[in-house]
Parts: sequence; structure tokens; C-alpha cells
Amino acid sequence: MNTPNIRISARAIGLACLLACAGAQAGEVEVLHWWTSGGEAKAANALKATMQAKGHTWKDFAVAGGGGDSAMTVLKSRVVSGNAPAAAQIKGPSIQEWAREGVLANIDGVAKAEKWDELLPKAVSDVMKYKGNYVAVPVNVHRVNWLWANPEAFKKAGAKLPASWDEFFTAAEALKKAGIIPVAHGGQNWQDFTTFESVALGVGGADFYKKALVQLDPATLSGPTMEKVLATFKRVKDYTDKNANGRDWNLATAMVIKGEAGMQLMGDWAKGEFVAAGKVPGKDFVCVAAPGTAQAFTFNIDSFAMFKIKNDANVKAQNDLAAAIMAPEFQEVFNLNKGSIPVRLGMKMDKFDDCAKLSAKDFVDDAKSGTLVPSIAHGMAVPSATEGAIKDVVSQFWNTDKMSAKDAQAKLVAAAKAK
Ligand code: GAL
Repeated sequence: MNTPNIRISARAIGLACLLACAGAQAGEVEVLHWWTSGGEAKAANALKATMQAKGHTWKDFAVAGGGGDSAMTVLKSRVVSGNAPAAAQIKGPSIQEWAREGVLANIDGVAKAEKWDELLPKAVSDVMKYKGNYVAVPVNVHRVNWLWANPEAFKKAGAKLPASWDEFFTAAEALKKAGIIPVAHGGQNWQDFTTFESVALGVGGADFYKKALVQLDPATLSGPTMEKVLATFKRVKDYTDKNANGRDWNLATAMVIKGEAGMQLMGDWAKGEFVAAGKVPGKDFVCVAAPGTAQAFTFNIDSFAMFKIKNDANVKAQNDLAAAIMAPEFQEVFNLNKGSIPVRLGMKMDKFDDCAKLSAKDFVDDAKSGTLVPSIAHGMAVPSATEGAIKDVVSQFWNTDKMSAKDAQAKLVAAAKAK
């Protein structure tokens, strides 16, 4: 009869200790990220709230600029001056680049205790490790090859949602005739490349994509399929507006939200913007795979690399941050706001919308069929120097009327050698 009471008091003691211990070891965690748009900020706030609930102080180190180019520049100067944050949004091959500098912390302790090896696809955990030790923790899986559309605008124009690039240009013409900007675009080089890689995947297919943009095979980069890809990509520009240059991606999304523009080619962080604006998927906006890419998946995995820091309480906070990111509650709430899907395996998807459910299904199917490809625009595939060089060529081609596809191809082959 006494057992339940004993159990309750033991639990109460445990709880009291938990609170006291958390208080005693409360630290500060400084986190560098570039999540400053409406949907992104909501997602980042979920992380802040989680850390504060554990008694830690959150020091926000947000550097505005989609795609993170500015954030990476600021991070470099902070690390060089010996003042690294506890955690920074670093992804893909860049994790290895930073680890090689000897500045990242080994977080195997948390990873082992929390069984990350069992909770992550191996392809993901491999990227988070340096020489077999975890140095980073993944947050989500974004799908990049999406097209977002405003169904009202399509209805007004009598246009049909495109499944191929031919249909895309037919729809774009119809939207233009109806006085609607067909394609909302932001002329920043990561956005140009986000469009470019969806065109490459849609026109050339997954094998071409891998050969050209991941393996950087010179013959494929200078071949006829790449010429067609570049020509198709440039045609998209005719359907963007004159003010696109320099525009932030979320402002381009806002054009689709308001019906000023018909569609946007963008990863599913765009969904975070629609949702933050109170829009309902399937009703106020729709998601379809970028033309010709329904059978493929361009992935972009956000992650936080952990830097070596000294203060014990702050190290504790850093470890708690790593554990919190992988916890199921956080994976759910964060990704509901961010537009992405959980990276942790075995998560329930019942609270997620149809775009996310399709993304989760396709991620698994495409991994099996070999049509899961890394995003170059979002730092998943090639070293950062190479990425920067090929992005520059693509944006130069987009912005220079007299540059031929052949010229661009020769420049791509040269840029692919940048290390
Ligand atoms: C990506 C990042 C996403 C999203 C986007 C726009 O590189 O992975 O999380 O924030 O940039 O800022």
C-alpha cells in the first residue's frame, strides 16, 4: 500500500533536484544563426524558449541575410579573434572545414547518452561527425525543389499548376497576360542558384545533377544538357519583375502571399512565411515539386556546430542545447514553424500539413531510388570556395544579357576547380 507514496516522494525529490541542479548549473548559450524572417524567427524562438525553460540564458547572435552568407562572414571574424559563440548554424561540408581548424567541440557525450546514431539516418550523422566524433547536431530536413503558388492568381489567369518546364512557361505567359508578376524572385546569388539547381534537376534529371553539380565533371558541365539547362534558367528571368535585384527571399514570398506574383521557386522555409502570415496550405497557397522534379528531392539540412568554449556552466548549456535540438518535442514544434520536416527518425507526422507529409515520404523514397540529391545553393555538396565560385558564374549569367550559355559553361568548368 505504501509503495505509490514512496514513489511519489522519490519523484518529488527528483523534481526538486532537477530544478535546483538546473539553477545551479545555469549557463549562457550564444547561438549564431540567420533566422530573421517571420517564419524563421518563430522557429528560432522555439529554441530560445526551450533553453530558457532549462534555466539557461539565451544570447541571440542573429545575422540577417537569407542563405547565411553574411552570417558566415561575421562568424569567421569572431572565431579568428578568439571569441567563438557556443553554437553556430553551419552545414554540410563546411562542418568538416571548421573542424579541421580545431575549433569545434567534441559532443560525443551527449550524442552517446541520447543515442543519436540510432535516431539519425547514417548519411546525416556522417556529416555531423569529424573523425568519428560528433561536432554538430542536425535540426531538420528542408526540401529545396518546391514551387509555391497562389491559387487565386492562377484562377484569375486561367492557368494550370505546372508539372514540366513547358507547362511552367505556359502558366507564366498566362499570368503575365492577366497582369500578375509570374515569378517572384530575389536577385541574390544564393536565390539565383536555388532556381538554377531546380532547373538543372528538372531538365537534366538526378544523374545529370549529380555528375554536373556534385562531381563537377567537366564534360557534363560543358555538354549539351547543361546548355539546355542554362537556356531554360535564363528564360525564367523574363517572367520576373524589374525590382528583383537584391530583394530578400521572404519579400518575394510576400508577393505570392498577396497575389502580386503567381509563383516562387524556393525551399520550404517559404512555407514558414505563408504559415506565419496565417495562410492555409492547400487553400491560400499550394506546394508542388519544381517542374520536372516530382521524382527527386534536393535536400538541405540545417545544423548547429558546437565551438570549444571554456566556462563549465556554459559547456553544460551547450550540451543541453545539443540534446534539446534532437528531442522529439522540439523537432515537432520547430519544424512546424520552419516549414521543414524533422531530421530525427520515427517522428509522428500527424500535426504536419500535406506539403510536409509529402516531403517526408519522398525523402525516404528518393533515398531508396538514388534520386535524393544535395543542394549546392545551400552548402550541402561542395567545398565552400567551389560553391562560391560556381554561384558567381550562375548569377553573372543571369544578370548579363550578352553572355551565352557556352561562355557560362566554360566559366563553370573553371570555377569548379576553385578550392
Ligand atoms: C537556408 C537555410 C534555411 C533558410 C534559408 C533562408 O540556407 O538552410 O534554414 O533559413 O537559408 O534563410
